[in-house]
Amino acid sequence: MSTATIGGIVATTITIMHTERLHLRRPRVDDLEAFLAYRNDPANLRLQPIEPMSQADASQFLLAQAGLDKHADNCWIMFAIERLRDSRMIGEVGIYVESAAKRAGDIGWSLHRDACAQGYAIEAARALVDYAFGERQLLRLTASMSAQNEACIRLCERLGMRREATASKAQCVDGDWHDVHQYGLSRSEWAGHRELEG
Ligand SMILES: CC(C)(COP(=O)(O)OP(=O)(O)OC[C@H]1O[C@@H](n2cnc3c(N)ncnc32)[C@H](O)[C@@H]1OP(=O)(O)O)[C@@H](O)C(=O)NCCC(=O)NCCS
Repeated sequence: MSTATIGGIVATTITIMHTERLHLRRPRVDDLEAFLAYRNDPANLRLQPIEPMSQADASQFLLAQAGLDKHADNCWIMFAIERLRDSRMIGEVGIYVESAAKRAGDIGWSLHRDACAQGYAIEAARALVDYAFGERQLLRLTASMSAQNEACIRLCERLGMRREATASKAQCVDGDWHDVHQYGLSRSEWAGHRELEG
């Protein structure tokens, strides 16, 4: 298995990334319990326009993700976040890569509640952005979230993303209409942000 260095991260040809405390790998069917623990947590569903996922759908989803090819596009590509110190799957980061010609992607993340507030999401998100602009050679990334999702907003801003627009009352969660922020990041902005971070 050959390796390449992308933004200081060692990436293999099957797209596995290591950061200081994390291993970002392809999801597996045996991640089911850990996956559902954060995916269906009411605290996670509170600010996102998604429904709880059944065990059967989640198994299918993980199976499909496990089989994705490294050139996959027009689909969500999830990376399971595994913590190195205890090998526990604590959440995910992911990217919806549009067609190869568009060279754009939409990124997102979710952590188990007991893994929050320790810097794991930003550590994994930085690796994801390196992957997007490095291995996938994308030119632009976006992320969108409820204007009430303060943790997600802080994460985007730590990544150096710019708030580009706010759509008023654009997302309905449990009968409540939320404003939705869109954040953007170009490849050149990311290079500048990385330089500032040292
Ligand atoms: C969005 C989400 C992933 C952010 O997780 P998070 O834990 O807040 O983010 P991080 O893991 O980067 O942790 C950052 C926090 O850890 C603190 N921290 C503690 N130790 C740290 C360390 N070693 N390194 C960096 N930060 C550390 C930081 O100060 C920061 O605190 P602050 O946000 O209060 O300023 C999480 O809230 C989540 O899963 N939400 C539900 C799903 C969701 O809404 N997804 C987005 C849909 S659009």
